[in-house]
Amino acid sequence: MNQSAPLGDNVTGIGRSSTRAEEMQRGMENFPPTSVGTREGAGKVRVQYAKEGHPVGSIPKPVEVKEKLKSALGAGAPPTLMDKLGQRLAFERTGTRLYEALISKHEAYGGFDGGPTREALLEILNEEHRHFAELEQHMISLGGDPTAVTPSANLAAVATEGVLKIVTDPRTSLLQSLEGILIAELVDNDGWQLLCDAARNDGIDDLVDLCEHAGATEQRHLDHVRAWLAAGCAAE
Ligand SMILES: [Fe+2]
Ligand SMILES: [Fe+2]
Repeated sequence: MNQSAPLGDNVTGIGRSSTRAEEMQRGMENFPPTSVGTREGAGKVRVQYAKEGHPVGSIPKPVEVKEKLKSALGAGAPPTLMDKLGQRLAFERTGTRLYEALISKHEAYGGFDGGPTREALLEILNEEHRHFAELEQHMISLGGDPTAVTPSANLAAVATEGVLKIVTDPRTSLLQSLEGILIAELVDNDGWQLLCDAARNDGIDDLVDLCEHAGATEQRHLDHVRAWLAAGCAAE
């Protein structure tokens, strides 16, 4: 099946109809905006709201701080670390869902020369899931709740909404979906690095080990996705 968008009757640009473009221009002159606001005005309103100081979310308090942890880290794991841990956990869970959807694409549209095999996608899916499970264990061992949505997890979910929409849209091909996966894998790579730095700063060595190992795996994912996209684009 064709993996690229076909030539068709796309009328989103004004270049297709110069007469109607002129009509539209005249319409804008006849019916200018009725409000008196400016772009600067909208910015001022945002600043005003920001100054009210409502946070976008809060970091959950520890469910249970084990004695061993108390002695190692004082009152428990630092809130910022728990926030980032929650973010990574949520992202890996979403990553698993993304690869599930990508496998459906492979089934529906088939592969392409130089593109991924079903087995390669399944292997990455299993790795994303394993990362999720490992992070879940770390979250529990640090006294956190792996089901809680931390503020950073919430931000990451909002930021990657578009990727999920691309990959789960039945009209997008495997090649088109890989454009979305590239964004996810780029964020994935940087996200592990940030968590690694935070864990190192807080002296949580087993989490540093996990981050380093997972980071190397994520680099491989990124290399694969880049190569698949390059092959797909070259084949067009
Ligand atoms: Fe991942
Ligand atoms: Fe990944």
